Amino acid sequence: MSIFDLVIRNARCVTAADVFEADIGIRDGRIAALGRALAVGREEIDAAGRWVLPGGIDGHCHFDQPTGDGTRMADDFLTGTRSAACGGTTTIIPFACQQRGHSLREAVDDYHRRADGKASVDYAFHLIVSDPTPQVLAEELPALIREGYSSFKIYMTYDDLKLDDRQIIDVLAVAREHGAMVMMHAENADCIAWLTERLLAAGHTAPRYHAEARPMLVEREATHRAISYAQLVDVPILIVHVSGREAMEQIRWAQGRGMRIYGETCPQYLFLSAEDLGIDDSEAAHRRGSMCICSPPPRDKGNQEAIWDGLENGVFQVFSSDHAPFSIDDPQGKQAAGAKASFDKIPNGIPGVETRLPLLFSHGVQSGRLDICQFVALTATNVAKTYGLYPRKGSIAVGSDADLVIWDTHAPRPIRNADLHHAVDYTPYEGIEVSAWPALTLVRGQAVWRDGEFLGRPGQGQFQPCGLPAPARPKTRGRNT
Ligand code: URP
Ligand code: ZN
Ligand code: ZN
Repeated sequence: MSIFDLVIRNARCVTAADVFEADIGIRDGRIAALGRALAVGREEIDAAGRWVLPGGIDGHCHFDQPTGDGTRMADDFLTGTRSAACGGTTTIIPFACQQRGHSLREAVDDYHRRADGKASVDYAFHLIVSDPTPQVLAEELPALIREGYSSFKIYMTYDDLKLDDRQIIDVLAVAREHGAMVMMHAENADCIAWLTERLLAAGHTAPRYHAEARPMLVEREATHRAISYAQLVDVPILIVHVSGREAMEQIRWAQGRGMRIYGETCPQYLFLSAEDLGIDDSEAAHRRGSMCICSPPPRDKGNQEAIWDGLENGVFQVFSSDHAPFSIDDPQGKQAAGAKASFDKIPNGIPGVETRLPLLFSHGVQSGRLDICQFVALTATNVAKTYGLYPRKGSIAVGSDADLVIWDTHAPRPIRNADLHHAVDYTPYEGIEVSAWPALTLVRGQAVWRDGEFLGRPGQGQFQPCGLPAPARPKTRGRNT
């Protein structure tokens, strides 16, 4: 009888640190051995000449998240994780969102019910804290952190989610005390409200005015404020979905002073620009613009270049999809407020869980902008470390889960929504060429995607409780200055 369930032979393995040739022996869903001439497995795959990378971890995506305003996300855990698997992502971390007036525990229980029996890749949950009552701060959050929900997002904008400054500081203090990671949505709500009112009063309602209502300044100011509060409390934070240079400068400034400030960016800030929100008030521009409305909005080409630089030079630690799936032709989706709705009534968010890795591999690694080890760090290893899943997830190492992707790097094709596996009726990346795509995705040693066929089973994906994030473990002394 073989000691391995599966052996991947002659793999060109990539971790965040190294590239090495090895056979990978897999037993009971874990990597049991790495070496040469391993014993024959019950199943064998020859990966000669192919890159074998840790499965992607998407540390920021929204599936089946209740919205409370009559809109509906197109992807649930069935279709969202199917799409993830087909694009090489083996673990997703969506958000259990607290509704005001309700407990965090209710959100977590509800979200487990939504995921149970549906996921085909592994999953963990972040929390969204929208109502930090004394009970939430003193009891619920500490208990949930201990139970494996050790990261939470807080919003500085959106009326139904945003916290005021004092609430932000209170939540950061809980994170510091218990070693959790806080993700900050950094946009200044009052500036946005003021600009929006003026734009609407002037009759500027088209999607392109979304970008004018949320200029870089509102993101820069909020990013600086978030960093200041993190410094005050002496706690690490991650600024999510950073869209351009000015916010990056704030992060770089803080990093340069030794603060533990981390950055996340997303494909929309590399591959979309404000022009995708429409260049005029035509119907076609409204439709295309609605598809690309997300916050912060895509910026200009110069900011796209700045984001590429930030991926390369270490401003950013994680690259996530921020998959927020609203269909365009769904009356509860992008057009929930009508086909010509004003920009402020169009649900924010775009899909991207399946295209995240092929886009970055093709246009980052294959075009020579990113080292392949950086790709692994940004899309898997750093994500696992940031959210307390490392080394179970995010690496190729003995003892780690056998979440692996064998890449086909000679697969030129344009992205077509018809080829994707989400339930959204469009992709904003339609027509963009990619040359790399996963040939095989393994979740704990089981194939969920192979040669163009989805093989996953609902319920195969398991909930992964998170430990304390490596960067957020309480320091023993000193302040964050
Ligand atoms: O527009 C976006 N990013 N929608 C998703 C929700 C969020 O703020 O991440
Ligand atoms: Zn956000
Ligand atoms: Zn998001």
